[in-house]
Amino acid sequence: MPADLTFRNIRLLDGSGAPAVLADVAATGGRVTAVGEAPAGAREVDGSGMVLAPGFVDTHSHDDGAFIRYPGMAFKLAQGVTTEISGNCGFSAIPNVPGREVMPGDIVGGDSTWTDLDGYFAEVMAHGPAINNAMLVGHNRVRGVVMGLERRLAAPAELAEMRAHVAKAMEQGAVGFSTGLIYEPGRYSDTDEVVALAKEVTPFQGLYATHMRNEGDRLLEAVEETLHIAREAGIGTHISHHKSAGKRNWGRIGESLARVDRANAEGQSVTLDIYPYTAGSGPMNQYFNIAAIDPELAAVVRIAMCPDHPEFEGRMIPEIADSLGVSQEEAVRMAITGPRGKETICIQFVIDEADVETNLRHPLVMIGSDGIPTLRGKPHPRLFGTMPRVLSHYVRERGVLSLEEAVRRMTSLPCERFGLTNRGLIREGYWADLVLFDPATIRDTATYDDPKQEPEGIAMVVVNGVVAYEGGRHTGAGCGRMLRYHRDA
Ligand code: CU
Ligand code: ZN
Repeated sequence: MPADLTFRNIRLLDGSGAPAVLADVAATGGRVTAVGEAPAGAREVDGSGMVLAPGFVDTHSHDDGAFIRYPGMAFKLAQGVTTEISGNCGFSAIPNVPGREVMPGDIVGGDSTWTDLDGYFAEVMAHGPAINNAMLVGHNRVRGVVMGLERRLAAPAELAEMRAHVAKAMEQGAVGFSTGLIYEPGRYSDTDEVVALAKEVTPFQGLYATHMRNEGDRLLEAVEETLHIAREAGIGTHISHHKSAGKRNWGRIGESLARVDRANAEGQSVTLDIYPYTAGSGPMNQYFNIAAIDPELAAVVRIAMCPDHPEFEGRMIPEIADSLGVSQEEAVRMAITGPRGKETICIQFVIDEADVETNLRHPLVMIGSDGIPTLRGKPHPRLFGTMPRVLSHYVRERGVLSLEEAVRRMTSLPCERFGLTNRGLIREGYWADLVLFDPATIRDTATYDDPKQEPEGIAMVVVNGVVAYEGGRHTGAGCGRMLRYHRDA
């Protein structure tokens, strides 16, 4: 019987970290059916000179709402991403109350129909998503639904209600629980609240994923809090976008990695991810205290999107301040205190290039874009360029890690970590999520000035056995699936 799709003469990087071997690969009915020698395919692809790898996994996405707004997920698919983990930094599309704006700048948007993970997954599937998605249930979201933006600790009844939301999400197949402890309203919680919620994950042995309470001056304290929470709950933990932010903290990422290594040696289970850039990005009002604007931060901030002042988009705060003849503090205030100021998104150049490379050398560091799928203005290029940038800049140009190791960090490692069964390797019986690329030419083209650019060097992306992207064109296949923790689907 012929296969659906057969690749000939490819350099196979199977995702395990093993070096490339020449092979043929066939897929039928959504799964890989032959590796090495392959039968004739209804479609045959000559991959001479190309690498065939498992589809890349973006471990850190904020695409919960994007799956409904942009089911084609062009910005991820074109990077070779076939699966992502959403619900990060405490912000998930679940739980939800239809018709109610749970938080300002709600990730979900106005016309949601679902209340829980099953409902959200059904809604996304009705839109024919181009790629696969697994989800963390987010602390900020859970707290927002139960308590709004109240600046206080949770009362016992509120904590019980929050715990029930986390438990329900885990029962329905969430891969874990996420926090964003610098953000509202999560920052109003104490460690015990997070421990109590993380314990709902324990029976499922899901993950505790965290945007830690501090990523700068008090990074090591925040790592201690993270390890404490995971230890108390008896679950693994995943540190999101690991960084040592702010110039005075540059070069200290090694101390944090050493603490992670020690925790793993002592029997905890800790992994991490990073995005391959020296700037972060997020809702600007969350980073500034309006009563005491941090001048050091203001100086390195660029405006990505600003509904009240579109003319600020793509410009640095010092430049905006100069052109208006106002102080930098005043320029920050203008960007975030207008009628739609809470929607403003900024880009902060707070990370050391050498720290990025130190992170990438660590075997437990995966790749998460942290892209914010707001396509207006000038978004951070990581939304479009993350995966190719690792393979071009850090593998090919800088030699920070080998190609097979980079592919492992983008495929089998995250699939194992986030409980994505039968994905992340090119093996018989595994799902046929595949990316065909030229390792000599693959590169990101998205820049801060011109971010909405798709990468080069990716010939084909296959999602669940169906060609979803080929020769720079999106096929519109819509064959993505919603993935539940440790379930083969
Ligand atoms: Cu994030
Ligand atoms: Zn974050």
